[in-house]
Amino acid sequence: MSVVGQAVPRIDGPRKVSGVAKYTSDHRVDGMIYAVPVGSTVAAGRIAEIDVSKAVAAPGVIEVFQRSNVGKLYKPSPGAGAIDETRPPFADDVIRYYGQFVALVVAQTFEQATAAASLVDVTYRDVAAPNVALDLSPDDEPTEVARRGDPSAAYDASPVKVDQTYVTPAETHNPIELHASLATYDGEAFTLYETTQAITNHRNVVSEILGVPRENVRIIMKFLGSGFGGKLWPWTHGTLAAAAARNLGRPVKLVVTRKQMFETVGHRARTQQRVRMSAQRDGTLTSLRHDPVNGAGMLDEYDENCGEATPYFYGTNNLRVTAAQTRRNIGAPTAMRGPGAVPGLFATESAYDELALALGIDPVQLRLRNEPAHDQNLNIPFSSRHYAECLTLGAQKFGWSQRTPAVGSMRQNGTILGWGVAGCSWIAARFGAEARVELHADGSARVLTGTQDIGTGTYTVLAQVVAEATGVALEHIAVELGDTRLPPGPISGGSMVTASVIPAVLEAARGAMKSAVALATKGSDAPFAGVPADELHFEGGRIARKDSAAGAVPFEDVLCTASVAQVSGSGKADATFADEHPKYSLHSYGAQFVEIGWQPEIARLRVNRIVTVVDAGRIINPRTARNQIEGALVMGVGMALFEETHYDPRSGAPVNSNLADYVMASHADAPQMDVTFLDYPDTALNELGARGVGEIGLAGVAPAITAAVYHATGVRVRALPVTIENLLAP
Ligand code: MOS
Repeated sequence: MSVVGQAVPRIDGPRKVSGVAKYTSDHRVDGMIYAVPVGSTVAAGRIAEIDVSKAVAAPGVIEVFQRSNVGKLYKPSPGAGAIDETRPPFADDVIRYYGQFVALVVAQTFEQATAAASLVDVTYRDVAAPNVALDLSPDDEPTEVARRGDPSAAYDASPVKVDQTYVTPAETHNPIELHASLATYDGEAFTLYETTQAITNHRNVVSEILGVPRENVRIIMKFLGSGFGGKLWPWTHGTLAAAAARNLGRPVKLVVTRKQMFETVGHRARTQQRVRMSAQRDGTLTSLRHDPVNGAGMLDEYDENCGEATPYFYGTNNLRVTAAQTRRNIGAPTAMRGPGAVPGLFATESAYDELALALGIDPVQLRLRNEPAHDQNLNIPFSSRHYAECLTLGAQKFGWSQRTPAVGSMRQNGTILGWGVAGCSWIAARFGAEARVELHADGSARVLTGTQDIGTGTYTVLAQVVAEATGVALEHIAVELGDTRLPPGPISGGSMVTASVIPAVLEAARGAMKSAVALATKGSDAPFAGVPADELHFEGGRIARKDSAAGAVPFEDVLCTASVAQVSGSGKADATFADEHPKYSLHSYGAQFVEIGWQPEIARLRVNRIVTVVDAGRIINPRTARNQIEGALVMGVGMALFEETHYDPRSGAPVNSNLADYVMASHADAPQMDVTFLDYPDTALNELGARGVGEIGLAGVAPAITAAVYHATGVRVRALPVTIENLLAP
């Protein structure tokens, strides 16, 4: 490998830093007008009346839409694709959460629309106290998602036990870029500029909501100011912008405000998870039960899937994992970076730390002791699992052997140090992908696939894969993403884009190269006229005889001689994500080692450093991959210490719905980070052996931090985030 595996800077970097890159709300089209939605100010009740008389009379107002005049919006069919709030906006007069859109003001300018939106007079009836209760108990009998042996009997018979409940709060995705939509309609077809992590899914779902054929909806998304899962699926603002464009016959731009982002475009569900674990005195895990409950919206099912990693992560013969939900008057929850496993591992890895303490066994050693030989849940082998090496190498790099286990026993310059560890894991799978690769007569290459780059480095990684396959230099490769006119590509979700596109792109590249070889043998001017194609090969951008490098001809010369502008190939690879009978258990693994500093005199808690070792298959680009892990580690500091969305029990409103009151980790909170990739190719997933790195970096950070907090302070925080109050009044 010469390009794959290199720490190449982002090829789209110059476009981003120079401001040339167009994000969704940067697009402008002639005749564009602005829409501002009006949100409900109650969280449970009904709309009695919407008086728009003042709003329509306000300067610049073109129209105010509500249920009576928005026009037909359909529910997407169950097979349409993914969407977490399936009720079309304005579908009925019922209010189910604070901020639910009840009207839409369209005006000549954004300022006029904003001003007029404040004049829409909504009266409500049947207003009830919203249910935003923090304590979560299942609405229905929990569903069993995994079971083996007899965990309850094994637990009762074991000498050492842990039975604790862990809580992760509602969190709100706060990418810098606001959700936005610019909708255009030509009387037949829509072109929608959207902030989306999934253009193909977006087209499929939104075309059904709008009631037009799929081919009449085009989605464009060239650059995303991140999403963290909040931009995976369509939300109501996009539907409203499209409806307004359709109704008015003019392009409509709608940018969701930061406050509205806390209300209407998803959040990470609150979770409450009981974990019961037991062990023999030597540390052998004898049983594990994991019973999570997560909050859901009033209408749609939402399973946070906290138990995802539990059944295979550690070996035990007795296990039961369940799932349960409870409905709240809060907007629909959605996937947020590492959905399921991230909150799930906070609970199970925290319990593991408590078990280690109860046993008097070092938490790294305890994890090594229960390393399973195969996936006991599916009863199949692991494709490539190097979790033990993550732990041992991480321990070595961190200096873990210097740890003294007694609480508060480690000090440095007057600060109490706490050292904690946790493991992590994340799914590895592929979504279906199609791609096209072109080789051009000017020596350049082009790769086209309808996936998108959400800031993670997809443009760059695709260019590297094509450069590796064709020998075309990176700077001569154009990558086309973010348009549903391209061959359909995967969602940017589940950390699966890279693994998903590799097989399709390599197949397409091979097709293009084969086509160039064939061209080299055809016609009297052809450099290899009359030579059978199977005696030639394409290597390093040149075509040559397999038995001799002499006389190799650059492919562009072949195309020029033949007077052909381009040759191309197509590739298509199937999804493995929902495989019913996988041959291998495919996952990524990692270990997080954390040092915190605690100064009780001034109640100052700081995460000093994190050592992370990640086993995510072959790393295509160590620079973009490291960016992903480091960003996730900082997010993990926020998850452990700061992030929580608070819903006012009186109004149901998220009260800290702004970047001042919703505290996230900033640069000043970022620890020193040491990231190592093991780099073992996992060829069960694709021939390059790449898995994915977007999400695993967040998993395990919070439980490692709370383990370190315990080590420093003696306070075990089981409900995130850790607050100073937790530590001052144990
Ligand atoms: Mo990620 S939550 O799959 O965008």
